[in-house]
Amino acid sequence: MLYVPLIVGFSLVAFGYTQDLELQPAYNQSIGTKRNTKLTTEAAAMTPPQMMMMITTTTTTTTDFNFNTSAPVEYETSMQRALAWLVTQRNQDYGWNNDTAKVLMALQLVQLEEATIASIVPAQLEMQLSMKQLEVEIVILLWRHHEIPITPPKLAQYTLALNSLCQDPRQFHGHDLIGTLQHHEPPHDLDFAYATLAACSSKAHVRKKQIRRLLDIANTANDHNIDTVSMTIIALKCIVKDHRHRNLQHSIRRPCISLGRQQMPDGGFGNVYNTALALQALQDVSDIGAYWNRTAAILYLESKQDPDGAFTDAGLTADVVLALNSKGLGNIRSLECDGHESDLENHVELDGITKSIASHMYNDSDPRNITVSYTLWVGTNVSENYTVWLTALRNTSFYSIMQMAADADPHYNFEASEWPNGHYVHTLAGYKEEPMGYHYWLLYRLPELPDPQTPPANQLVAPVGVDDLLIEEGDHYLFWYKKL
Ligand SMILES: *[C@@H]1O[C@H](CO)[C@@H](O)[C@H](O)[C@H]1NC(C)=O
Ligand SMILES: *[C@@H]1O[C@H](CO)[C@@H](O)[C@H](O)[C@H]1NC(C)=O
Ligand SMILES: *[C@@H]1O[C@H](CO)[C@@H](O)[C@H](O)[C@H]1NC(C)=O
Ligand SMILES: *[C@@H]1O[C@H](CO)[C@@H](O)[C@H](O)[C@H]1NC(C)=O
Ligand SMILES: *[C@@H]1O[C@H](CO)[C@@H](O)[C@H](O)[C@H]1NC(C)=O
Ligand SMILES: *[C@@H]1O[C@H](CO)[C@@H](O)[C@H](O)[C@H]1NC(C)=O
Ligand SMILES: *[C@@H]1O[C@H](CO)[C@@H](O)[C@H](O)[C@H]1NC(C)=O
Ligand SMILES: *[C@@H]1O[C@H](CO)[C@@H](O)[C@H](O)[C@H]1NC(C)=O
Ligand SMILES: *[C@@H]1O[C@H](CO)[C@@H](O)[C@H](O)[C@H]1NC(C)=O
Repeated sequence: MLYVPLIVGFSLVAFGYTQDLELQPAYNQSIGTKRNTKLTTEAAAMTPPQMMMMITTTTTTTTDFNFNTSAPVEYETSMQRALAWLVTQRNQDYGWNNDTAKVLMALQLVQLEEATIASIVPAQLEMQLSMKQLEVEIVILLWRHHEIPITPPKLAQYTLALNSLCQDPRQFHGHDLIGTLQHHEPPHDLDFAYATLAACSSKAHVRKKQIRRLLDIANTANDHNIDTVSMTIIALKCIVKDHRHRNLQHSIRRPCISLGRQQMPDGGFGNVYNTALALQALQDVSDIGAYWNRTAAILYLESKQDPDGAFTDAGLTADVVLALNSKGLGNIRSLECDGHESDLENHVELDGITKSIASHMYNDSDPRNITVSYTLWVGTNVSENYTVWLTALRNTSFYSIMQMAADADPHYNFEASEWPNGHYVHTLAGYKEEPMGYHYWLLYRLPELPDPQTPPANQLVAPVGVDDLLIEEGDHYLFWYKKL
């Protein structure tokens, strides 16, 4: 994947730019106090790449900046008040003591979602200074690691912050922070889930062993603390964003239901920290039947807010901000940093685009019958195999192909559960998935007939579900029942 090395190259340019624009007053007034001088919201909301583009055309854009010193800052929501408080807590070194990583991550994620807070969060140039401070902290951490060992949660926190700021922690001034993080598996489940989330958020390889441990925690959610279960769900939500692990989507359901049940009559999940994590775990999972009351959880959090906007300290306030925001820890992996990432996820999309261009050349409005093969393999060593060839109109969904195959050969009988996003096939050829034993049915779309001597790589797992997968000329499909 491609990360733009923003910070190092950028800050120098940024400072030149500061002087050109006479932004100096914004700095004086903002240190240690609530800001009352701001860039226009347009400029404040700019992401570094956009800013970089502006810099290259600086001569034409200088007049776009207006300062509005008379605007009174109104903090309407609990999130706005929390953010305003966080800004007041910033030190002269532009850090937040030992919470710099957490606070920067929260400011960054909120900024991307909420245009309304552009006037509260620090302007982009001040964010750059805080990012520099973050780098300084990491360098010190690395430098002193013989005296003071770096704990996995600390390192995970820093790498997540770097990711949220679109820097690659695998290439931190020549250090692979994720490699360091993955080197030791933390014994505590919570630390382990957090470290795995950090690795996944960097799009680093998450080992099967790690996924199994997460699934173990998820499958025995009732025996674990709320914070551990929440972090495990957040980590799994990140992992299933990788299309190679898309089939694990359903593993999130059970722990979410279990977590939802633990909401207390006061709306919280025990304390502010647990509630903030649970809210992030249960974000975007409303459609899987977990019963809990989001409004009540938010009201609980708001009841714990101090009059000045804080939630006790800067670290906890940053956690709550992520919970109140629509995007939390689980969303760092999908941040669009430079618009042309070369991750596998994007390869799939590009592949789709290439195919759609090809099919346009072929003339899409032309209905044609095509023939595809559909193979079943049972077992990691392929102890059973079946193949049928089926002819259907181009564009038929693979789900329809499965129905045709089942009519033609009873081995292809299947059972599927219905989800809002389509069918989830859990049983085929008499074999049912066993999440406890890590046995799953994986669907592959292949360019040639599968051969057990050279089994297909995980990248060839179909990127979409059976309903959205439309057959194309030359496709070969394989459903393989295997142990992960
Ligand atoms: C801002 O800082 C500059 C340079 O340090 C100084 O000359 C100026 O008086 C300061 N302005 C205010 C309002 O403090
Ligand atoms: C400054 O802010 C005030 C209050 O939000 C607004 O009424 C006024 O039009 C703004 N002035 C400029 C120049 O943007
Ligand atoms: C964070 O910093 C505060 C004050 O500087 C200190 O009291 C606290 O122990 C620190 N926490 C950790 C986990 O280092
Ligand atoms: C959720 O909690 C809020 C606040 O306590 C309450 O007003 C609402 O009725 C609850 N909703 C459900 C569906 O229980
Ligand atoms: C596609 O087919 C339609 C009707 O069959 C025809 O009108 C159209 O010109 C064709 N387009 C191309 C690019 O061949
Ligand atoms: C294929 O499906 C697409 C989208 O569902 C549709 O627009 C197109 O007309 C279909 N083409 C054929 C040949 O059925
Ligand atoms: C496709 O095949 C079906 C069944 O063999 C046939 O009824 C249909 O006419 C064919 N359609 C085209 C466009 O060839
Ligand atoms: C699969 O094959 C490997 C190597 O041939 C063998 O060690 C393993 O026991 C086999 N597994 C099963 C379930 O047959
Ligand atoms: C499929 O299984 C049969 C035995 O049922 C075996 O003879 C054949 O070689 C297998 N084919 C493949 C491609 O594995």
